[in-house]
Amino acid sequence: MTLRAVVEGVGHYLPDRIVHNSEFEKFLDTSDEWIKARTGIERRHFAAEGQTTSDLAVRAAQAALKNAGLEPDDIDGIVVATSTPDLTFPSVATMVQRELGMTRGFGFDVQAVCAGFIYALTNANAMIVSGQAKRLLVIGAETFSRIMDWTDRSTCVLFGDGAGAIVLSAQEGAGDNTDQGILSADLNSDGRYREMLYVDGGVSSSGTAGKLRMQGNPLFRQAVEKLTTTAETALAKAGLTDDDVDWIVPHQANIRIIQGTAKRMGVPMDRVIVTVQDHGNTSAASIPLALSVGVSDGSIKRGDLLVSEAIGGGLAWGAVVLRW
Ligand code: UT7
Repeated sequence: MTLRAVVEGVGHYLPDRIVHNSEFEKFLDTSDEWIKARTGIERRHFAAEGQTTSDLAVRAAQAALKNAGLEPDDIDGIVVATSTPDLTFPSVATMVQRELGMTRGFGFDVQAVCAGFIYALTNANAMIVSGQAKRLLVIGAETFSRIMDWTDRSTCVLFGDGAGAIVLSAQEGAGDNTDQGILSADLNSDGRYREMLYVDGGVSSSGTAGKLRMQGNPLFRQAVEKLTTTAETALAKAGLTDDDVDWIVPHQANIRIIQGTAKRMGVPMDRVIVTVQDHGNTSAASIPLALSVGVSDGSIKRGDLLVSEAIGGGLAWGAVVLRW
């Protein structure tokens, strides 16, 4: 028998404020048509003043625990993927631990920008299969609205705020690719691409949080190729191919990237969970948000074979294959 990290529950939280593309027309040389045509984005949510990443993460975690029928003290640890923490330290994960009322366990953050949830899942899976933890909350939570340059139309229309969470639990499997749970992962980064997507401030450089800077077009071209390769590599590690995929649950940066990747993989778009129109790019939150939406609308069912892939600043990218 083999230990597997199986998804026991999923949930998400989006801030109340919905911002439609037309709002950007009031202060930028842009249009709803351009944003929709070039990105697929129609609206996004922005956190209220004073609402932090940990606030969103706590709400998503509570939804996932409820979905799993569990209490906070059933959890051994919390892993939060974020690049927009409330404070430089402590971690968002320990803030979530406190707010949930957990009296035991551990928490830490993972920072791999838009690929953060893939990295967090891979870490959590390793802890579960090695016996380090039996049940983990894995959360992606972001407030990218806080690092936007509102004069830069090429970036500020793209991002949104939100959080998604899953509960992973240790369960015995047969050790083959018919098992439920995480079956394989593939992680990559290449620091030579730093200039393509970064934030121009930080603790030990400017002493400020900084603003997001992106070379969108070159990144777009890297994205489709690297996402296809990492998804197919992860599938191969599990002894599977594109033909076995029930759902691609991709990072939601741009509908054209999502379509391009699905096309290269030979997976039709009706087998892809798409939320970019409603959420924009929520960085590390986008995959757990898409998982939660896909499960609650009845698309993703128990036993379905999922592949999730993401790429972001670093560049860092990767994929996880899991049977729901
Ligand atoms: O989550 C991390 C990963 N992120 C990504 O993978 C994002 C990857 N990149 C993209 O999604 C796309 O490159 C963008 C959506 C960012 C841009 O789309 P594009 O088709 O690559 O456009 P472009 O950057 O080549 O710009 C085309 C034109 C430019 O005008 P000129 O130079 O042709 O006159 C831009 O200035 O579109 C202009 N433009 C805009 N026009 C209206 C850029 N942003 C806007 C805007 N409204 N908001």
